[in-house]
Amino acid sequence: MRISIVSSLLAVLCASFTLALEQVLTPGGYRAKTNVFEIPPGGSIVHFGSKVHVLAANGTVAHVADSHPEKAHRPRDLLDGWIAFAWWLNPGLAPISSFRTTWEVPPVPDSDNGQTVFLFNALQPNGSSAILQPVLQYGPSNAGGGSFWAVATWYVDGTGNAFFTTPVPVISGQTLQGVITLTGSDASNSTFTYNAKFTDVPGTSMNLTGAAELTFAAETLEAYGITALSDYPAGSTVFSAVDLTLADGMVPSIAWSAEGDLADGVSITVDTDGRAEAHMTIIY
Ligand SMILES: *[C@@H]1O[C@H](CO)[C@@H](O)[C@H](O)[C@H]1NC(C)=O
Ligand SMILES: *[C@@H]1O[C@H](CO)[C@@H](O)[C@H](O)[C@H]1NC(C)=O
Ligand SMILES: *[C@@H]1O[C@H](CO)[C@@H](O)[C@H](O)[C@H]1NC(C)=O
Ligand SMILES: *[C@@H]1O[C@H](CO)[C@@H](O)[C@H](O)[C@H]1NC(C)=O
Repeated sequence: MRISIVSSLLAVLCASFTLALEQVLTPGGYRAKTNVFEIPPGGSIVHFGSKVHVLAANGTVAHVADSHPEKAHRPRDLLDGWIAFAWWLNPGLAPISSFRTTWEVPPVPDSDNGQTVFLFNALQPNGSSAILQPVLQYGPSNAGGGSFWAVATWYVDGTGNAFFTTPVPVISGQTLQGVITLTGSDASNSTFTYNAKFTDVPGTSMNLTGAAELTFAAETLEAYGITALSDYPAGSTVFSAVDLTLADGMVPSIAWSAEGDLADGVSITVDTDGRAEAHMTIIY
């Protein structure tokens, strides 16, 4: 009797331990499955003290996630699946008030080896791995997906949690515009409120309240499980109409830095630099 209670307790403990350890793919890298949350339609994310609340559209709390102390932040040096990216760090000017990027959904890759390809524009706090990103995805992630392109907005906090809107399938050749907007701030505790979405794609809008200021802007190709160059879409992806505005309306002179992992055979070039109408090309 006692043994069977102990062994069933052990079984429960083992099951929850395994669940806690099960890692799933997000565009912020692999995370514990128990810390990855789908946002109800029209819902939002609120940092609340040491917790992160997922709110349903009617304001009720759908999930509460603990913020854990941030692990030592790894520099963005093509770890974590970032294959090629262009970036700009706000050097202490007024907060970024909007960041827009236009690109076209590429052809589906010629080969399908279970790989996952993410293409996005994103904002991050400096020195943190937190990231807010409207993401185009091919292949599987914890948000679902498969051998087709789909879009979802993600917020991956710096402490192990990830939140996503329900993926919406899109078709090759469709034009996407990813937009991240500063919608408010709270001077009392230096927190900021943002919205991220794909313009004209219903269901991709995410509000994020109580966040740290997002000062690092990036245009990124991220991938996992690539076994051959044909696992990428053929040709190139052009990020165009890349526009950054600052809250004080000043026009900073921006120079984008580009980093690509030549070992992967993929490169990114900045064709047109600057704050407005910048243009970058990823060649696979
Ligand atoms: C986000 O906030 C805006 C107001 O700033 C509101 O109109 C919108 O419904 C909210 N929710 C979503 C999912 O965008
Ligand atoms: C910041 O302060 C506001 C107003 O006092 C409060 O509602 C909010 O929860 C605080 N943010 C965090 C992250 O604690
Ligand atoms: C709020 O929305 C949630 C999720 O859609 C639902 O389960 C709940 O019943 C709603 N609550 C109220 C008070 O409307
Ligand atoms: C960004 O963070 C690093 C440390 O992580 C710091 O050295 C640097 O001064 C910060 N830069 C800005 C512009 O905030």
